[in-house]
This record gives sequence, C-alpha cells and structure tokens, in this order.
Amino acid sequence: MTPHAGLKLAVAGKGGVGKTSLTAWLGDHLASRGYDVWLVDADTSLSLGAACGLAPGDIPQPLATREDLVRSRIGSGLMSLTPLVDDLPGELSVRLPRPPGYGERRLLVMGAVDAAGGGCACAANALLKAVLSHMVLGCREAVLVDLEAGVEHLGRGTVEHVDGLVVVSEPSLRSLRTAAEVGRLAEGLGLSRRVLALNRCASARPELPDLPGLPKLAAVIPPLAGLCERQLTDGSVLGLDEAPGIASACGAILDALSP
Ligand SMILES: Nc1ncnc2c1ncn2[C@@H]1O[C@H](COP(=O)(O)OP(=O)(O)OP(=O)(O)O)[C@@H](O)[C@H]1O
Ligand SMILES: [Mg+2]
Repeated sequence: MTPHAGLKLAVAGKGGVGKTSLTAWLGDHLASRGYDVWLVDADTSLSLGAACGLAPGDIPQPLATREDLVRSRIGSGLMSLTPLVDDLPGELSVRLPRPPGYGERRLLVMGAVDAAGGGCACAANALLKAVLSHMVLGCREAVLVDLEAGVEHLGRGTVEHVDGLVVVSEPSLRSLRTAAEVGRLAEGLGLSRRVLALNRCASARPELPDLPGLPKLAAVIPPLAGLCERQLTDGSVLGLDEAPGIASACGAILDALSP
C-alpha cells in the first residue's frame, strides 16, 4: 500500500454480505501495519464491536445518544478527531486490545436516534457526516466506516466525506446488482475510488456479470470454514486460521484504492 496522508474508507453493500466482517479485517490489517485506526460503526445493528472481539459490556455508548455533546464540540471548530473523541467520556469510544507492533484501534459507535428519544435517522446521519467531515488525519491514520446495508445511505450523502468505497458482494446476481447500484450512486457523487470485494466466493477467478456501475474486482475472500465454526459461540471475526489469506485480500483492496 502506498503511504498517503490519512485514509477514510467506507464499506457498503447488500445486507449480510460481510461488510462488518471486512471492516474488522481491514482495521486489523491496517493496525498490524502500524496505522492508528478509527473503526466507525454507522450501522444500526451495532455489530462492528462484536466482530472486533469486544464483549457486549465493552461496546461504547452510541454517539447519537450524546448528539448535544458532539455538536457542541464540532461547533467549537475543533479540527482533529483525536481531541474530539479523546475528550468525550470514556464510554463513548473504546480502544481495542493492542498487540505488540500494532497501531491503536478505536471504536466509535454512531447508533441511531430512536423515536422514543425524540430524534430520527436523519439526525443520526447528520451526526455521522459531521464527525466524518471533521476528521483530519495524520499520514498513518485511517478511518473505516461500516455502513448500513443497501443503497439508501448514499442518498444521504454519507460518502461525500470519504476517499474510497469498498463495495462488498457475494457471488450472486442479487447482491452484485446492489453492488452495481452502490457503485453507480457513488460515481454520481464523485467518489472515484471504488472497488469490489467478493466475499464467500469459492472461485478465485469468478466470471462476473456485466452490470453497469459494478466496481472493479480487487479481492476475493472464500467461504471461511473457521469462521462458520466459530460464529455459533463467538462474534469475533479476527484471529482465524485463515487470517493470512484475509490479510492478503485486505492488502489487495487497499492497493487498488491507493491514489
Ligand atoms: N467469508 C466468509 N465465510 C464464512 N462466513 C462469513 C464470511 N464472511 C462473513 N461471514 C459471516 O456471515 C455473517 C454476515 O457477515 P457480516 O455481519 O459481516 O455481514 P454484513 O454485511 O455486515 O451484514 P448486515 O447487512 O446485517 O450488517 C456473519 O455471521 C459472518 O461471520
Ligand atoms: Mg454489518
């Protein structure tokens, strides 16, 4: 991967294709290369923390529940995410365990503002956009956003503030059609760095249908027996026997997104 000043990536695609898993894998890969990584869970199902191996009690409080606080920080003109988040009460972001040689991985959970709290999904999305647009990254820092499934969030402009989009799909026409639609919408929003990651794909060189908008294939991740076996008892997708193959897929994705 070519070193460049910061990296803000979002991970999108149809429901259940592996977006959260790939976000966790990319975060692990970048941290293993010494990057400090912000993992941003922008999905309402809040599963990125579990995928990264956190126990339910260690998942931070969603920022959306403290919108007043975050808005007041952003409103004061802070331009670095580090003071923004480090300053917030500890429960709003958590650091993942840091193996020797790894960069720091911090998890931010955006969450949804539920109707009972008097908010709406637009407020939560505005908050995500505000946080993303105010992140000024150093050269070995990265932000990875695990987006909600589907294409709706693209209409809300979330990807305006990222440098690259990883579109995840399974090798199925339905999920590839969603991937193509995500790709088309992202292109329309001017996001030129888009790649396709094919997950749970047994073939290393799959023949893909010709769908306008489908991003260029950057990596194929096979069905992982180790993950199937583990996921009944453990939410983490990290530390699998298949980790070396996953790391090379992550490297290929990041290379393909390099400017
Ligand atoms: N390559 C793989 N092999 C086997 N199982 C996988 C693979 N990739 C992901 N999974 C499993 O598939 C399930 C869905 O993955 P994941 O939660 O990452 O998808 P998602 O796109 O984030 O889903 P959602 O749209 O619900 O947020 C999880 O149980 C995950 O452990
Ligand atoms: Mg998910």
